[in-house]
Amino acid sequence: MNKSLPNQAIVWQQQQLRLLDQRCLPERVEFVVIQTVPAAHAAIQDMVVRGAPAIGISAAYAVVLSAQAQAAKTWAQARQAIAQDIELLATARPTAVNLEWALTRMQECLRQQTDIDVAVAALQREAIAIHKQDIAANEAMARLGAAYLDQRSRVMTHCNAGALATGGIGTALGVIRQAHSDNKIDYVLANETRPWLQGARLTAWELAQEQIAVQIVCDSAAAAAMQAHAVDWVIVGADRVVANGDVANKIGTLNLAIVARHLGKKFMVVAPLSSIDRNTSAGTQIKIEQRNSREITHLGERHLSAPDVTAWNPVFDVTPASLIDVLVTEKGVIEQPGQAKIAALFEH
Ligand code: MRU
Repeated sequence: MNKSLPNQAIVWQQQQLRLLDQRCLPERVEFVVIQTVPAAHAAIQDMVVRGAPAIGISAAYAVVLSAQAQAAKTWAQARQAIAQDIELLATARPTAVNLEWALTRMQECLRQQTDIDVAVAALQREAIAIHKQDIAANEAMARLGAAYLDQRSRVMTHCNAGALATGGIGTALGVIRQAHSDNKIDYVLANETRPWLQGARLTAWELAQEQIAVQIVCDSAAAAAMQAHAVDWVIVGADRVVANGDVANKIGTLNLAIVARHLGKKFMVVAPLSSIDRNTSAGTQIKIEQRNSREITHLGERHLSAPDVTAWNPVFDVTPASLIDVLVTEKGVIEQPGQAKIAALFEH
């Protein structure tokens, strides 16, 4: 497989964080230089960077920026300021557990430090380790997931779970990339993914760049595509997998899982261990991010709906474990995920 990353969304270079501005894609490839924690917080909230693992990695680098800014302070003051910045970053988006996971690691690393210079170096090492771990997890999951696909597989994916959403080749798109290089992919249907159009703008762009046959379908055509036997597998990423195997992912994922089960299509979730939240027992406990109504009522500056009409805009939904055929992690694949199998993943 071509391991070169097509679109590196997060670049840490010379103590600087550069984020590929995903709001501009595919028209323009533009990087934003992030110099402060408030700028990183805003970049995550405003979708400059998005996708669960990518958010976690970006926040980890933002903690390094925080530490770099404390050079003139006493260690006690510096440590307190960094801890406050970690707390602020944790509020940027609530559903993707990778944010919490990465910041907990950075917090633990900070706790072990005793002076600012050493802390800057240690936090930088930790952020880079988090980034590298995600790259390795993507590659392991790609191999494990692709093994489940037969020749000439027709795959549907939702949102963008690719290089743009992670540190590496992607979760769901990592599996698709690997399967493509194993000559197993006939074509990919990328659901457009209202309202941010991550499928139409980002997934289709990533796949087209690698000459993987892709067609966009509007979200409401997904059931028809499955009914017309145009899909063998639905393959998606995750923002949070909880202890009983329920999965929060981009709004619309639940619809796909229900339709897939009804029509006898296979449903695969690809998620690294950093997306698994063992402290939450069931999907009903997951806090679902609600975003501004304007994302639905407007198209750019154009107001589409009648004035004063608002929209319900949950960003994620929860798919019950019972609708998931296969959960792929870097530590192994679970068929028919459930509490005991998820717990076993963490045992050795
Ligand atoms: O709102 P987004 O674009 O951050 O949502 C992203 C998703 O829902 C992805 O499917 C998920 O993070 C998996 S990414 C590897």
